[in-house]
Amino acid sequence: MKNFKLLICFLIVCMLVTACRVAPQEEPPEEDRRGEIPALEDMILSSEHWKDEYPLIYQSFLMTSRLKDDTVEDSSLGGLHPIDYLKKYPNISVLYDGIGFSKEYFAARGHYYSLDDVINTARPKPGASCLACKTGDYEYLHTKYGDELFNMDFVTTVQEVNNPISCYSCHRNDPGKNVQVTKPQLQVALEKLDFEPKSGSLSCAQCHVEYYLHPETREVILPWDNGLGVDEIEVYFDDINHFDWKHPRTGTPLIKVQHPEFEMYLGSLHDNLGLGCTDCHMPVVEENGESYRSHWAKSPLKTVNESCGRCHGDDGEAVIAWVEEIQKEIDAKQAEVSDLIVQLINEFSDLVEQRALDEETVEQLWNLHRKAQYRWDFVFVENSTGFHNPSLARRVLEDAKNYAEEALEILANARNAN
Ligand code: HEC
Ligand code: HEC
Ligand code: HEC
Ligand code: HEC
Repeated sequence: MKNFKLLICFLIVCMLVTACRVAPQEEPPEEDRRGEIPALEDMILSSEHWKDEYPLIYQSFLMTSRLKDDTVEDSSLGGLHPIDYLKKYPNISVLYDGIGFSKEYFAARGHYYSLDDVINTARPKPGASCLACKTGDYEYLHTKYGDELFNMDFVTTVQEVNNPISCYSCHRNDPGKNVQVTKPQLQVALEKLDFEPKSGSLSCAQCHVEYYLHPETREVILPWDNGLGVDEIEVYFDDINHFDWKHPRTGTPLIKVQHPEFEMYLGSLHDNLGLGCTDCHMPVVEENGESYRSHWAKSPLKTVNESCGRCHGDDGEAVIAWVEEIQKEIDAKQAEVSDLIVQLINEFSDLVEQRALDEETVEQLWNLHRKAQYRWDFVFVENSTGFHNPSLARRVLEDAKNYAEEALEILANARNAN
């Protein structure tokens, strides 16, 4: 009898464990994920084309247009619209001094607005390669013009573009089949990886990644040669002496991080459980008895039951509160670190102005400033405010803090010596 009870217990545990485990995702064969590029005249670029065949998916995709310009929602979370980061984080006008982000920096909006927002931003657009992540028509342009496209004038090229991110961006002409990679930068970068990304993350990795533009060709490049970790990406940039700009007050050659959601998420607890981006951001939902994959890419907290419920239970409020707790902690930590880097910039530039530093000390300070700011930026611009990988975000900010403090110590010594 006792054994029987134990057996029942064991079976219950087994069931719980299985329920919480994610079904292993079928990896599409390699040819599939690159797919075949249709002839120019055959490309189905407009999402509207699919509205009758996949009405529910199409309608859910249009939901990415929600939150119009003047709407501000749940302001304590990461997903606000549109927040002006310059008002919310005054430090960034010092940290990003010398680049467009110190002049204008709004929070991201839904995919529906991707084209409008890149056309309307006051930040400079170095070339047509900026369209890579903003339109489903990019492969059309790339097929037509080849790599010349990257360096073509943004304003003239955008005249040929009709669609924001569209079904074509992730499916080419075959929605309903495996996701296909349509962006040249990811096609190239996948060759550098020694693992196969989950299919639920692959389509997002086309755009939600760190990248830089080749200084001459303007090609979009994902800096993955040494791996996708924060430190490995830095080594890549150091090896090629890359900097995105020099800080106008200190002369530091700095790296501007973009939106490394994919890199930050890799190796996280949820990643290790087998979840891909779509499991949380585009969960399968039910409407009038019909279930389909929502294509409303948005904060998963808006579908907390569908996105998280199967593992975390039906107390959605508790899950949201848990996320917010992590985000508040990371936000406070990034604020603390950004204060230190601002102090570093102010003290450093004072001594530069007074010509009180020798060449070697300047080099040393440049190095520490670059390392600290790159790490702070990595966490700051990653759009989940630390949620995707809290332990990594904490470590990276801690490293940033240490580098900044080391620089401040050198500055204090230099002031005392004068
Ligand atoms: C375990 C669930 C989960 C997974 C998997 C996941 N995310 Fe998230 N993501 C979240 C949560 C929670 C937030 C915070 C939402 C908020 O603050 O409202 C978030 C925030 C974001 C945001 C900002 C959203 C906004 O409204 O501003 C983006 C962009 C994003 N994630 C992209 C990705 C990408 C790309 C991947 C895959 C590499 C991914 N996420 C994987 C849960 C997840
Ligand atoms: C940002 C990328 C992206 C865009 C844009 C996109 N999809 Fe998808 N779609 C996916 C992913 C990811 C899946 C899940 C399949 C997988 O993981 O391989 C999917 C699945 C599907 C499926 C299979 C149904 C299912 O339940 O999995 C259909 C049908 C589909 N999409 C249609 C469309 C249509 C129609 C559009 C345009 C209105 C569209 N998709 C736009 C990424 C995208
Ligand atoms: C073709 C490039 C591209 C692909 C592919 C892509 N995104 Fe995006 N995503 C963007 C851009 C650009 C924005 C910001 C749009 C804006 O602000 O106008 C964005 C914004 C978002 C946001 C913020 C939306 C909001 O309302 O705050 C989320 C969440 C998101 N993407 C999730 C995903 C997920 C999940 C995938 C994969 C299924 C994905 N994206 C694939 C380019 C892309
Ligand atoms: C496949 C199951 C699964 C799904 C789906 C899932 N989680 Fe989790 N999550 C876990 C497990 C397992 C843990 C670790 C055990 C624990 O702490 O409860 C965890 C941990 C967490 C943590 C603590 C993380 C930390 O590092 O401190 C948060 C917060 C969280 N999940 C939020 C979410 C949210 C929000 C969603 C939906 C957007 C979600 N989870 C979806 C299984 C899941």
